[in-house]
Amino acid sequence: MTDDLLALKTETDAALAAAGDLRAWDAIRVAVLGRNGTLTGLLRDLGKTPPDQRRERGAALNQLKDALNAAIEARKTALESAALDARLAGERIDISLPPRPRPAGLIHPIARTMEEIVAIFGAMGCTVSDGPDVESDWYNFGALNIPAHHPARADHDTFYLPAQGNKPPPVLRTHTSPVQIRTMLTQPPPIRTIVIGRTYRADHDATHSPMFHQCEGLIIDRDLTLGHLKGVLTDFLRTFFDIGNLPVRFRSSYFPFTEPSMEVDIGWNRRTGELGKGGDWLEILGSGMVHPRVLANCGIDPREWQGFAWGMGVERVTMLKHGMADLRPFYESDLRWLRHYGFNPLSPTMLHEGV
Ligand code: DAH
Repeated sequence: MTDDLLALKTETDAALAAAGDLRAWDAIRVAVLGRNGTLTGLLRDLGKTPPDQRRERGAALNQLKDALNAAIEARKTALESAALDARLAGERIDISLPPRPRPAGLIHPIARTMEEIVAIFGAMGCTVSDGPDVESDWYNFGALNIPAHHPARADHDTFYLPAQGNKPPPVLRTHTSPVQIRTMLTQPPPIRTIVIGRTYRADHDATHSPMFHQCEGLIIDRDLTLGHLKGVLTDFLRTFFDIGNLPVRFRSSYFPFTEPSMEVDIGWNRRTGELGKGGDWLEILGSGMVHPRVLANCGIDPREWQGFAWGMGVERVTMLKHGMADLRPFYESDLRWLRHYGFNPLSPTMLHEGV
């Protein structure tokens, strides 16, 4: 290659190396290979070369052209990949940041117990039913076979609301049992459902609050027996308290809406409060076979369908499970108590590993 051609190559290489972006690169490409580019000019002038030198000059120009093309393309590729690297670096997100050391909020123990109850009975095929806190006298008492002047009404310390017309006054529901009635009136059997919600009684001390929570269950099917009731409740209690051999005792009792009725006790140590051992018994829930009159009140033929039901206090089972002595802090919003007893929202209830 002659000196002028070598000089062009060296010059172009230097300019390409100095080009910091694709814009500068393109200006060089046009200056060399464009219509008025240096190389284009040299090729055009080939005709003016004396014929005896033309062949050699032509070969040198072609060689230079190939070399320049290659250098220009190589620089383009390098600039493009540098631009991509810069863009990727700019858009990078650091997903290795650790979670905040402490969750900002905690799950209240009552909410946690409700989740656990729903998980356990949900796995047995129960839906969750709901009803209003303000109930009619009929749903809260009458339809459940508790007529006016029945002594069972006296147990309930009911909050009454102002009466409308001649009707008996509405009440703040004293238990979740009226939702059994609402469910049977709106849903044909078979039924498998639980009810969890607020209930009210005029009572206030270390283990009673005027507003508290109950969980109720109702199973209606053909050919149900006390054996089914005992199996369902034993399974529930052993799963909920996470004690596989928790002693469970069924003791005959009385509720107006079940016949026969049973109180359910679990084994514990009265002195230490430890559950599962100790030889003492602690009453934990009420249950029974749904009274035929209650079924009939809801338009369900008791000769064709049987059912069983149960009810329990959500605060009570929560206090027992976690060894809490006093129920009042549940509603006092004391952050020190909540931080101590609250549950991490990042470890939700998982039935497959117990609750
Ligand atoms: N409703 C009852 C109460 O508040 C609890 C109860 C007992 C509910 C037996 C039931 C049941 O469904 O079968 O004391």
